[in-house]
Parts: sequence; C-alpha cells; structure tokens
Amino acid sequence: MNVIICKDYDEVSVKAAEIFKRQINGKPNSVLGLATGSTPIGMYNCLADMYSKGEIDFSQVTTFNLDEYYPISQDNEQSYHTFMNNNLFGKINIDASRIHIPNGETTNPAAECEAYEKEIARHGGVDLQILGIGRNGHIGFNEPGDRLNTKTHITALSSDTIDANSRFFESSDKVPTHALTMGISTIMSSKKIILLASGHSKHNAIKELLSNGITTDNPATMLKMHPDFTLICDSAAYSDIHIGIDIGGMSTKIGVVDNNEIIDRCDVEITAGQTAEDITDAMAEVCLDFAARYDVQSIGVGTPGIIAHGKVWATNLPFCGFRLADELSSRVKLPVSVENDAACAALGEQIAGAGAGAENMLLVTIGTGIGAGIIMNGKIYSGCGAAGEVGHMCIDINGIECPCGRHGCWEQYASVTALKNQTAAAAKAHPESILGKLCRESAISGKTAFKAADMGCETAREVLDNYFNYLAAGLNNLIKIFDPQTVLISGGISNEGDNLIIPLNKRLAPFSAVKIAELKNDAGIIGAAALK
Ligand code: GLP
Repeated sequence: MNVIICKDYDEVSVKAAEIFKRQINGKPNSVLGLATGSTPIGMYNCLADMYSKGEIDFSQVTTFNLDEYYPISQDNEQSYHTFMNNNLFGKINIDASRIHIPNGETTNPAAECEAYEKEIARHGGVDLQILGIGRNGHIGFNEPGDRLNTKTHITALSSDTIDANSRFFESSDKVPTHALTMGISTIMSSKKIILLASGHSKHNAIKELLSNGITTDNPATMLKMHPDFTLICDSAAYSDIHIGIDIGGMSTKIGVVDNNEIIDRCDVEITAGQTAEDITDAMAEVCLDFAARYDVQSIGVGTPGIIAHGKVWATNLPFCGFRLADELSSRVKLPVSVENDAACAALGEQIAGAGAGAENMLLVTIGTGIGAGIIMNGKIYSGCGAAGEVGHMCIDINGIECPCGRHGCWEQYASVTALKNQTAAAAKAHPESILGKLCRESAISGKTAFKAADMGCETAREVLDNYFNYLAAGLNNLIKIFDPQTVLISGGISNEGDNLIIPLNKRLAPFSAVKIAELKNDAGIIGAAALK
C-alpha cells in the first residue's frame, strides 16, 4: 500500500486528479471505476478543469460507477446518476454510451447486478478505481460485517451509513434502505485502486486501515491485499494529534495529545510581571516546536477565569478581556479553542479518566478555593462564560465574609484554605490534643487534620466531621441541581482518597457516586486537546 499524506482536501483532490490524468493520457480508452460521496467532488472539479484546458480527452474512456441507491429513480436529485452528471459527466466530453451506473430503477436487482458484473468483465476489467470511505470503513456500499468476497450485489445500508448520508436527504427516513454495489472482489479485481479520505470523521477508519489487521469490520482493510493500492488522505484524516494547554497561576502545562494520550509535554513557567502577550509568546514558541515535530491539527487551551465572546478575564493572570484564542492562533497558524480550566479537566476525566462514559458529570476542584467543571449531555456547559463558580454558592447568608463581597460562600467552609483555618482554630482551642501538637511542630496544611485523626485524635475527628458536613452540603446542592451520574473530586484534597470519599458518600446517600478524579494534572491537558 502506498500512502500519500496531503495538507488538506484541495491537495488530496489535485493529487488524485493527476493520477487520473496520467492514466487517461497513457491509455485513452481506459476503463475507470468511479465513486460518489462528497470526497471525490474536488477531484472531479480538477478533472473538469484539466479537460477545459485541453489536458485530458475523455472521449474514449469507459466508466463504471461503484454503486447506486436502491430503489431510486435516475432523475432523483440524490441518485448517483444525478450526482455524476452534475459533478463530472456534464462537464467533460465523455461518450454517454460508455457510462455505466447500476440501475436503481430495476425490478430485478439480482439480474441487474449479474449483468453489471459481466459488463465490467466484457470491457476487460477496471484499469483505475477511485474510492471514498465511509466513517465505518465501508467502500462502495460494502458495509462492515458483509461477506467480503462479493461480486456486484444488492445490500442493506447500515444505520451508520444511513445516518451519515441523511445530510443529503430531507431526513434519515428518506435515505433508501438498500443499494446496488460492486462487491469487494469486484473492486479488488481492478488493476489500480486509489482511496481518498479527508477530514477528522474519517480518522478512525483510516487508522484501522493503516494498522496491521484485515477485518470484515472495516471493509477497506481488504485493500491492503491489493498489489497496487494508494491511500491519499489529508492530515485531519491521517492524524488525531492536538495540543492541550493547561494554564495555571505559576506555570503552563503544554502536552501533545494523540488519541487522548499525552505523548510529549513541556511546562512553561509564568513569572511575575509577564504580560498577556509575553505568556502567549512563550506558549506559541513551544507550540511551534511541537507543530514542527508532530502532525498537530489544533490547539485547545484551559485557563482560569471567565471566557466570553472570545475574550478571557482571569483574576490571577494578566488576562483582562484578552483575545487569547486569536492571539495564539495568529502566532502558531493553527485553530485554537479556549475554555475554562476546570471545564477542561472535567472533559479530560470524562474522556479518559474516572468519568469515562458519564454523559452528565461534575468535577469539583477543591484547593485554595473551589471551582467546578460541568459536563452536560457529553459536552462542557459554560453558561454565558462563567458557569462552574460553585465556590461562591451561598450556604449561609449570615456566614463568613468572602473576598467576593458576599457572605457564606461555600469555599469559605469547604476549600483546603477553610480546612486549614478550621484546623488552626481547633489546635488553638485544644493545645493538648495530638492536632495541637502537630500544628506546633510543623506548618498547617490540608493534610494535618487527616494525619492527626489517623493517629486517633478526637479533636481532629471533630474538625473533619464538621468539614465533611460543609463539603457535603454544597455537593448535595449541586447534585440536586444537576442530577449527575458522578461527581469527581480533584485538587489538593483529593490525595486523601477513601478517607474523604467514604464519609462524603455516607452523607450524600442515596447518591453514592462521588469519586476521586484519576488523571491529576493531565486531565486539563487532555480535556483542552479535545476541544478541537
Ligand atoms: C457513500 C458512497 C461511498 C462513499 C461514502 C463516503 O456511502 N457509497 O462510495 O465513499 O459515501 O462519502 P463521503 O465522501 O461523502 O464521506
């Protein structure tokens, strides 16, 4: 198999048209196998252009199309007869009597298929066959799971193909349920085959084609057995590599992500006094380096703060209405998407971590403050740009004053900062306790109360009981609003594992799906890369 990787669809079309031109100029009475679908349209346009410039003469070629819907009338707008007339035959000097397309109007499909197969043989077989590929790897209309040694035959379309092709019809129930198609063995008897693929939706099918196996689950993989088979695809179909960036207060983590796995990474420090432009320049430098070494399709960025109308506002960073996506994109010349960092982490966990398979989930990050990423129906929910600021959900209207100006915000009771304050207060009130002793010996952290409780300290247990009650109160509110499949806890506190999860789930019963997030710092990178 030869593989030609092109930068985009236009290049795929030009390369394929050049192969056709060489074929026809080398053998003017070539027998061509033609395909429909949106992919070959660019190539047909190039061929029509070459014809108008006098570079090719189609007068002696014979054509056999791969397939046709069944039943369908030839003059139906979506018939492959109409498609071929509109996209190629109407623009070139082909002799109409040399055009062959399976007849979707026949009342005897079996006889039509047999006659079609014989007609191909009578012309000495196809010299050059062009193919597109379905998202599920179908070629012509040879669907996954079909017997692959078939000649031209009638076949039922798979639901995936009906779904994919419904874009050409008014609705999916208007897509014909069957088709007449050359079989895999008909296609394999062609002397030369080229398959065109463009766009991300074809990536999985192409990845399987490029892997070692041959399987009826991806009919295109059979083509690897052909002695003269060329795949021409653009980089979006060939590669699923994206850069994910997770901007933090102190550093920016940049990863190259291939199929949700980080394959390369680099951290860039953020220093005091840097402007938004400086930070963007530093990110761009790393991205350009990665893009020179990997076939990167796009960049996703997770940043703290609010993102609205393409602008970012972040309190602890110099982003104040900064057009981060535009600025980075203009430096790196790749598409850039920006989302909130907690939302990206939630997406990362949903794709490849503890939230895998959950269409509706929350990721609550508990550290200096509390934030959340919300996944609704499989997608990030960002409201008007600031959804997920759950740390500022009020749990006591007469409560502790928050720097945001309100009282009783959840993070004043349930963040790691709050736990440290509660630990310090209890240690002061009970200096004789183990907790009191630990607090005198070393700096108080979010871990101190857990450590003392582990050593049997009653004061520490009371601190944690009170803290879990507050944490559970806020989580309970969120669960009542969102009714999620799971709630993942990330941030510093998540290191406590079961010591945190068991008491929380006990307090939230009957809800029992609070879990620790799995991907740690990688979640934000993987989620950002998946913004595409
Ligand atoms: C249809 C055709 C195939 C074609 C496929 C992909 O099902 N029968 O020959 O390869 O669509 O079409 P597109 O190129 O529009 O993705």
